[in-house]
Amino acid sequence: MLESTSASAARTVIELSNVTVRYGGDMVALDNTTLRIEKGDFVALVGPSGCGKSTILKLVAGLIEPTEGAAIVGGREVGAIGTHAKRLGLAFQNPTMLPWLSILDNVMIPLKIVEPFRQEYRRKKNGEFRERAEALLEQVGLAGFGGKRPWELSGGMLQRASLCRALVHEPDILLLDEPFGALDQFTREELWDTMQALWMAKRPTVLLVTHDLRESAYLANRICVMSARPGRIIQDKTVEFARPRTLESSYEPDFTSLVQALRMSIAHVRSDAGKPAAASAPTTLATSRITETLP
Ligand SMILES: Nc1ncnc2c1ncn2[C@@H]1O[C@H](COP(=O)(O)OP(=O)(O)O)[C@@H](O)[C@H]1O
Ligand SMILES: [Mg+2]
Repeated sequence: MLESTSASAARTVIELSNVTVRYGGDMVALDNTTLRIEKGDFVALVGPSGCGKSTILKLVAGLIEPTEGAAIVGGREVGAIGTHAKRLGLAFQNPTMLPWLSILDNVMIPLKIVEPFRQEYRRKKNGEFRERAEALLEQVGLAGFGGKRPWELSGGMLQRASLCRALVHEPDILLLDEPFGALDQFTREELWDTMQALWMAKRPTVLLVTHDLRESAYLANRICVMSARPGRIIQDKTVEFARPRTLESSYEPDFTSLVQALRMSIAHVRSDAGKPAAASAPTTLATSRITETLP
């Protein structure tokens, strides 16, 4: 028991311990939240708008520090002096490409700024780095588009390129904040497969914020459901569907019942907003392939 606990501690890359975040002194965005994520896991955070999902990503990225509690990423407390021990990749709803650069140059931006790549950028930008970016573009179905400018690509293509940019420096941790939120349903579902393939190839630790419950069930190994503000994690579900998951499998009963259970939980926390979190009842799932723990 002791051994398995310490083995699991060794694999922990993200650890929030009793973290409270207050904005402006009195606005509690995150309330006494504890979350531990192991290396290589794919965790989705779902919950009502304004419940603190992006706040958790900002904590992990080191953009903000906890008001109370501790946030440890890659073995270091966030906000500690020095660079992040673990490299991060980021992608958001809006891909924000630099319009004066080609897609290839946009994808290579992290190599230009992140150590140790930046020292070698001038030497490798037309060789190894370029090949690395082109290989990623090919992997997401954008072979041959590297020379285009951002405005020549559709929204779905830009988001594919933005995933390449988030991964080009081989980050240990990938932070995704509603990355497919602005896309139409068909494009979004295509991107799920792209995202799944990218994760399966390199196994970065992924923290995905989404309010698309099907998306969380399709992509994640673990889904953390948050309460309405002040946010805390009220359910933690392990999703054990075999990979690669497919669109067909997302219409099977296990999958749809998980999505339904998530929907009920969110409806519950929305209607419970303002009441103590303990009032939220857990949802029981009919299927044995989904396990659930309540913190
Ligand atoms: N910089 C900030 N200053 C003040 N309030 C903020 C700030 N950022 C977020 N908030 C508030 O904190 C709460 C949680 O925000 P956020 O983490 O962005 O929620 P979510 O991503 O779940 O929609 C929201 O009520 C939001 O308005
Ligand atoms: Mg948000």
